[in-house]
Amino acid sequence: MIMKLSSSHMDNIPSTPGKFKMDKSPYIHRFRHYSSLAKLTFWSFVFLGLIVVFFFKSPSTSPPNSMPSDLSRRSLKTSSWGGPAWEKRVRSSARIRSQNGLSVLVTGAAGFVGTHVSAALKRRGDGVLGLDNFNNYYDPTLKRARQALLERSGIYIVEGDINDIALLQKLFEVNPFTHVMHLAAQAGVRYAMENPNSYVHSNIAGLVNLLEVCKNANPQPAIVWASSSSVYGLNSKVPFSEKDRTDQPASLYAATKKAGEEIAHTYNHIYGLSLTGLRFFTVYGPWGRPDMAYFFFTRDILKGKSIPIFEASNHGTVARDFTYIDDIVKGCLGALDTAEKSTGSGGKKKGPAQLRVFNLGNTSPVPVSDLVSILEKLLKVKAKRMVMKLPRNGDVQFTHANISFAEREFGYKPTTDLQTGLKKFVRWYVSYYGSGKKNSH
Ligand SMILES: NC(=O)c1ccc[n+]([C@@H]2O[C@H](COP(=O)([O-])OP(=O)(O)OC[C@H]3O[C@@H](n4cnc5c(N)ncnc54)[C@H](O)[C@@H]3O)[C@@H](O)[C@H]2O)c1
Repeated sequence: MIMKLSSSHMDNIPSTPGKFKMDKSPYIHRFRHYSSLAKLTFWSFVFLGLIVVFFFKSPSTSPPNSMPSDLSRRSLKTSSWGGPAWEKRVRSSARIRSQNGLSVLVTGAAGFVGTHVSAALKRRGDGVLGLDNFNNYYDPTLKRARQALLERSGIYIVEGDINDIALLQKLFEVNPFTHVMHLAAQAGVRYAMENPNSYVHSNIAGLVNLLEVCKNANPQPAIVWASSSSVYGLNSKVPFSEKDRTDQPASLYAATKKAGEEIAHTYNHIYGLSLTGLRFFTVYGPWGRPDMAYFFFTRDILKGKSIPIFEASNHGTVARDFTYIDDIVKGCLGALDTAEKSTGSGGKKKGPAQLRVFNLGNTSPVPVSDLVSILEKLLKVKAKRMVMKLPRNGDVQFTHANISFAEREFGYKPTTDLQTGLKKFVRWYVSYYGSGKKNSH
């Protein structure tokens, strides 16, 4: 089935398609009778014609639970899927090729973390199907390059939105996924002040939509999804433990991730879905995200542009628990492997199901100024530092993970320090963009 959720065509159709003009004459003249009959027939055809046009042009494939049309117009427009060849491709990508392997739907597969997790799952013989809407929050050509990389190892990324309920239902119909690795989200802390709705759309509405489909799937998959260290918000007790308070978010992004954790609780409680949330701490590495500091610092240092180094009030250091992508991938796989089965079926809970939240960090926060010093050495260029006050736009002063819970549950132990990880990032950066000063992305 080919489905296009393109813009609604109702806008092009007049609101009053054919007004009947009744003959008010009191005389019942034969000629006039025929004439009004002809007029009536004519206008009936016009009216019928308009109905036919409306019927064929309207997005009749929109599912009943779909979003309001303005949102679907904005964000589901890329969806084009269906048909036997498409289904074959989905099945082949999701096919398990190892004993006791998993069949995983990875949302946000063209994203930074999604690409690495998908490749790692595939390498060990799991079936992987990607889903991504390739939005332009940052340069989509980078997402396309990651897609090409995954395609080379036999991973298909379906282009679509997690809010497209019909697409998600179809995917589960075509393949019974054992697990969902849900990484699709509107990321970034500062952008939330520019485009708050994109956070609600992907991180709240999209999550609910995905969980709705998962809860109705038979069998229900186990779900591992990306929360964020940002849920700790203004918490000042260090290191951050899963038991600490998370009710003081400092950004809308953090608030949507916190909401996600509460939504996860609800779906676990009512429908028996197995749900594991992972609070990632500042992930970095090759194929990373251009909106993150380590990435644009590298670009700007190479270009000779000055870079902002934030400091907190009282000249306090801003520090991050930078976590290398390979360590995060190990954590994601560990969480998937220890995820218990969901207990519900047909939308009904059959018993208590697993509900977990883990920190995935590096347990050693590094001041941002040290990050710049490492980059300077690796790039062999002196950075033009511009020390500025940390603006109140969502960033917190520091993050520091306590990871003992993940270590206990699935042996999570990060092994890459910032120096080693940045070296790998810089090597990738230079091979991908070149080291010239004319780069632009
Ligand atoms: N990278 C980090 O440091 C970090 C830290 C904490 C949490 N996280 C979370 O980890 C996950 C992955 O992050 P990332 O760094 O890979 O980000 P990313 O932006 O590179 O990847 C997210 C992907 O999801 C896709 N996407 C967004 N909305 C979608 C939608 N509605 N439907 C379908 N696809 C959609 C995007 O196109 C993108 O490719 C996100 O949930 C993010 O919030 C990341």
